[in-house]
Amino acid sequence: MSNTVLFGSQWGDEGKGKIIDVLTMDADWVVRYQGGNNAGHTVEIGNEKYILHLTPSGVLREECKCVIGNGLVVDIIGLKEELEELQKRGIPLTNRIFISDRAHIVFPYHKELDGAKEKNLNENGKIGTTKRGIGPTYSDKADRSGIRIGDIFELDFENRVRNIAKEKNKLLNNLGAKSINIDTMINEVNIAIEYLKPFIFDTLPILHKAIKENQNILFEGAQGIMLDVDFGSYPFVTSSNTGAGGVSSGAGIPPQCIDRVIGIIKAYTTRVGGGPFPTELIDNIGEHIATKGHEFGATTGRPRRCGWFDAVVARYAVMVGGVSEWALMKIDVLDELETIKVCTKYEIDGKEVNNLPGNINKFSSCKPIYEELPGWNEPTTECKKWDDLPEKAKNYIRYIENITEVKVSIISVGPKRSSTILRY
Ligand code: GDP
Ligand code: IMO
Ligand code: MG
Repeated sequence: MSNTVLFGSQWGDEGKGKIIDVLTMDADWVVRYQGGNNAGHTVEIGNEKYILHLTPSGVLREECKCVIGNGLVVDIIGLKEELEELQKRGIPLTNRIFISDRAHIVFPYHKELDGAKEKNLNENGKIGTTKRGIGPTYSDKADRSGIRIGDIFELDFENRVRNIAKEKNKLLNNLGAKSINIDTMINEVNIAIEYLKPFIFDTLPILHKAIKENQNILFEGAQGIMLDVDFGSYPFVTSSNTGAGGVSSGAGIPPQCIDRVIGIIKAYTTRVGGGPFPTELIDNIGEHIATKGHEFGATTGRPRRCGWFDAVVARYAVMVGGVSEWALMKIDVLDELETIKVCTKYEIDGKEVNNLPGNINKFSSCKPIYEELPGWNEPTTECKKWDDLPEKAKNYIRYIENITEVKVSIISVGPKRSSTILRY
């Protein structure tokens, strides 16, 4: 019996959806604890492909129940569409989806503000957000002016939304953007609310009962540690705490209830959006990885920037996230490379550093110091167990274990459930 956290240990898109789906074999619950529909988590089962944005990736196994925790910002109109789509595809939802009444609502004006703010930033300062209203909604939450899901049951809900929307329209106009139509918004919001009502709960007693009964809970992180609002490459980050620390505040689970922390990393690195990326490859190898790895955003379709594995970032994730084991993804994407580089430390102003600097200008000036390893030049996608892997691929994995001082317990060699090697 265990409560397990899986969190992105790079810049997101590590393959969280796939591994959550694999781990749900043994889980009773899957809980999202932060973020919103900026996330895009892909699960491929047989010939079916699902991209989940707000729904926990446990939804695809019928026995598993799903919680959208208090720490999320929920685009209720988007969530209705996502759940309806799942229902159309034959996924049962009744008694399986539990949305926290404490989560904050993303309204259409938040999305417009997100876009308008980005537009006003100069080229170098653009965060490259997903324009899903994440930053503006978390800002309202911190400002104590946000609207929570449970507020929909209050009589003054519609009036409050209308009044706030009027203020947000002024803000939009000041930013040079168009106002939103408040009546249209209210109409869409009301339709979404009617649909979502049966799924809204106080999720705290539900989760704590599950813990008391020794049920297995999986906490599904979104984004990655380098996009964490405190620990990431601020300000080029999202607006929530993406690591294991986010579970306590985002789901109401005390730290001592967490038994296992899995960090998830790709065998290389990707980043979508703006901001520094020390190991970025702007060459043929970067293009090869992007093409072979189909590195396009699951939410926005934007091309992802690709680079070598960065062990400084991985060690940092171990330190701030308490990673006790790795899920190492996309080994197959490196199958055709002659040599593979790993960044072991950085150089800043001629000095070698092992740690990740907090200051963005310092981080931007980091130059990667690489160790070169031989590639295996053999396909790995059909490998089903550790012994099936080419010796040089095993060596690459051992190298990552040594340099991060954390064992790799899950190896992924393709997008499907079946392309997974479990080592425990
Ligand atoms: P998430 O946001 O962390 O859930 O990751 P995404 O779904 O955004 O991106 C991961 C992508 O890699 C998806 O298209 C997955 O289907 C795919 N994927 C996951 N694991 C593997 C793997 O081991 N090999 C390959 N080639 N693709 C993978
Ligand atoms: P998953 O869960 C990768 C990035 C955006 C942008 C920054 C801020 O699929 O791994 P936001 O819309 O959150 O204000 O954008 O964060 N970003 C992601 N990058 N994977 C994600 O989610 C991301 N969610 C946000 O590209 O750089
Ligand atoms: Mg993703």
